[in-house]
Amino acid sequence: MNSSTGKPVAVVRTRAELGQHIRAWKQAGETVGFVPTMGALHRGHLSLVEKAREKASRTVASIFVNPTQFAPGEDFDTYPRDSDADISKLASVGCDLVYLPTVEEMYPDGNTTNVRVEGMSDLLDGVYRPHFFYGVATVVARLFLHVQPDVAVFGEKDYQQLQIIRRMVRDLGFPVDIIGAETTRDADGLAQSSRNLYLTADERFAAGALQAALHRASVRLAIGVTPSAALDEARALVTAAGFRKLDYISLVDPDTLLDLPDTPLAPGTVARLLGAAWMGKTRLIDNISATR
Ligand code: PAJ
Repeated sequence: MNSSTGKPVAVVRTRAELGQHIRAWKQAGETVGFVPTMGALHRGHLSLVEKAREKASRTVASIFVNPTQFAPGEDFDTYPRDSDADISKLASVGCDLVYLPTVEEMYPDGNTTNVRVEGMSDLLDGVYRPHFFYGVATVVARLFLHVQPDVAVFGEKDYQQLQIIRRMVRDLGFPVDIIGAETTRDADGLAQSSRNLYLTADERFAAGALQAALHRASVRLAIGVTPSAALDEARALVTAAGFRKLDYISLVDPDTLLDLPDTPLAPGTVARLLGAAWMGKTRLIDNISATR
């Protein structure tokens, strides 16, 4: 049930059924807010729905584990799937409609046409997951065409993804406002993620060090330490905490995602610190703002 209206949340599996709801709402002068997800929902996802509800009169969430953003050997087959639990959670925060398309519904004729936000997709996480952001941009473009939202909310947790979607929307002229939502965290600072479910108890205990290292770097940058010194210190903290492999910890321009020069941040500069590291078999990512 939708807690705020007392009505059950509607669940649709086809583009045609979805379109009926969207058209009826738009004819009635309503606006549509959209939150795309891959399910295994936690408080971070639900905070996006709450934000969408502030920005639009109707809220749609999608649950679709998108095959085109997983590389062979990644966790597409084992990605946690529990749509009944997800639907109840979405209803509890007042979501109006859940779109649960099949792979055939999203890719009826396969996937010949791709959306590639070049440059930005090939940095940072793109180095380690070469086709990942092409798959993300492609499915988000398709979802936007299905849902036709006025507003869509994405988490800062996946900061590179958020900036790539902003760029895609700007380049292709999608008539949708992209809103970024703050990362929700556990008490020790670990960013909530569906993949945290993979961590053992010991790994979960150690995992908070990624955020702590980024935070430490932001404090060092704020007092004028050079980026290379602040980043080296953060890398050492992550390694000492038991992360098996560090993919990167970088300081970049918050819009272009390009590396910044190795000079202390000029007062008033806003930059972004991003990191990715492996805790056992689980790859964790996080990011925070850095300013001086
Ligand atoms: P998924 O990982 O399910 O995340 C869906 C949305 O929730 C994304 O916008 C993500 O940034 C946001 N999110 C995840 N954890 C969060 C947290 N702790 N705090 C705030 N927001 C959080 O990202 C994807 O799915 C997919 O790539 C998708 C965009 C759906 C395309 O397939």
